Amino acid sequence: RLRVVALISGSGSNLQALMDAAANGGAFEIVAVISNRADAFGLERARGAGIPAEVLDHRDYTGREPYEADLRTLIDRYAPGLVVLAGFMRILTPAFVEHYAGRMLNIHPSLLPKFRGLQTHQRALDADEREHGASVHFVTPELDGGPVVLQARLAVRPGEDAATLAQRVLTLEHIIYPRALGWFAQGRLRLGPDGRPWLDGGPLMAPIV
Ligand code: GAR
Repeated sequence: RLRVVALISGSGSNLQALMDAAANGGAFEIVAVISNRADAFGLERARGAGIPAEVLDHRDYTGREPYEADLRTLIDRYAPGLVVLAGFMRILTPAFVEHYAGRMLNIHPSLLPKFRGLQTHQRALDADEREHGASVHFVTPELDGGPVVLQARLAVRPGEDAATLAQRVLTLEHIIYPRALGWFAQGRLRLGPDGRPWLDGGPLMAPIV
């Protein structure tokens, strides 16, 4: 089974969805969870499942490079075939990202390329978007700019607030992230030589579920 290391910063509900998929016959296994915050609830989820849960606090470091040097050492100790960002709220340098080129995925709570960065739900509401959703993408040096693998969308409800929208999008995230990992673990999904995602040997037009 494909070895996966997950990076988190918070609740870890996406991590939970991945652990559940792995436990239910998934082609991948979560071999370690690493958080930059000691109080991330996702660490408890990992420990409860018997998965090594590590904390590497960026505040113990003087800058990004030394932090990422240790983060990379820690990740690579687990020899993952894939690294997944699951609510990991740190910006990563190009050098770090390049080390995991083609083997790092992120989930982002918007219909990329719309609303990169933070507060995506409020920004979607402020922009009067009628549709919103989530995207899984390969990580490249450009923040939230890597090639999209899979998206899920929903219709924004009249009068809805950012909290309910976030919750509804999260439910979609829990569907598409395990699916994308399954594809990758089965060898069906990869970052093609053209820098686009390939599925089953051909260029993938980002499918919407
Ligand atoms: C998710 O909505 C994820 O898409 C988002 O943080 C949340 C984490 O929830 N990620 C980002 O905003 C990345 N910049 P979780 O900890 O319950 O999985």
